[in-house]
Amino acid sequence: MSKVIYHGHSFLEIHIDQYTIYIDPFIEGNPVCDIKIEDAKCNYIILTHAHSDHLGSTGEIAKKNDATVIATVELADHLTLTKGIKSHAMNIGGSYLFPFGKVKLTIAHHSSSTPDGLYAGDPAGVLITYNDKTIFHAGDTALFYDMKLIGEMNSIDHAFLPIGDNFTMGVDDAVKAAEFLNAKNIIPIHYNTFDVIRADANEFIKKIESIGKSCIILKPGEKLSL
Ligand code: NI
Ligand code: MN
Repeated sequence: MSKVIYHGHSFLEIHIDQYTIYIDPFIEGNPVCDIKIEDAKCNYIILTHAHSDHLGSTGEIAKKNDATVIATVELADHLTLTKGIKSHAMNIGGSYLFPFGKVKLTIAHHSSSTPDGLYAGDPAGVLITYNDKTIFHAGDTALFYDMKLIGEMNSIDHAFLPIGDNFTMGVDDAVKAAEFLNAKNIIPIHYNTFDVIRADANEFIKKIESIGKSCIILKPGEKLSL
């Protein structure tokens, strides 16, 4: 039995067997997040990149839970060296079998630096495969044609795609991404957290359904069975 709980912005809490995996745990400073740092419980934290709305409260959460951070090598090493956090360094295109499933980092067309301005390696998307299921978290990214290759090589059950525009894909680019990725179900993320990334989720649902795919909107705190 596996499930995902959406905590707003790009923050996902994934439960697979006895493991809890956070992706991009943006709690402090996230006006739509439904949990507090004190409530955060996880075994692993996967980071798509180092921007403050993704790195979020990783330091505190990882220390409190003795969790392992999975990220590109520059970011993973930075967190281990400066904060003493356990990390597993990876890089784009590489995969590794963790106790909860296989993680592969994909390309993402974006940038990545720490909140204090240090280079943090390339940004990433994340594929998680376990028990014949595949979840894709696109991270922050522009639309790119190689999403077609990701879709050809993986049978994606649930794709979490940014739709907020300005920093990432907007609605129309995310619909094209959904087509390229050929995911069975699409969940929009990275929108309506701040005014600059306002997007109309109902317009997104209509456009996704018009290409014959399913789309589920999760409000912060809502769960989806995987
Ligand atoms: Ni970003
Ligand atoms: Mn972002």
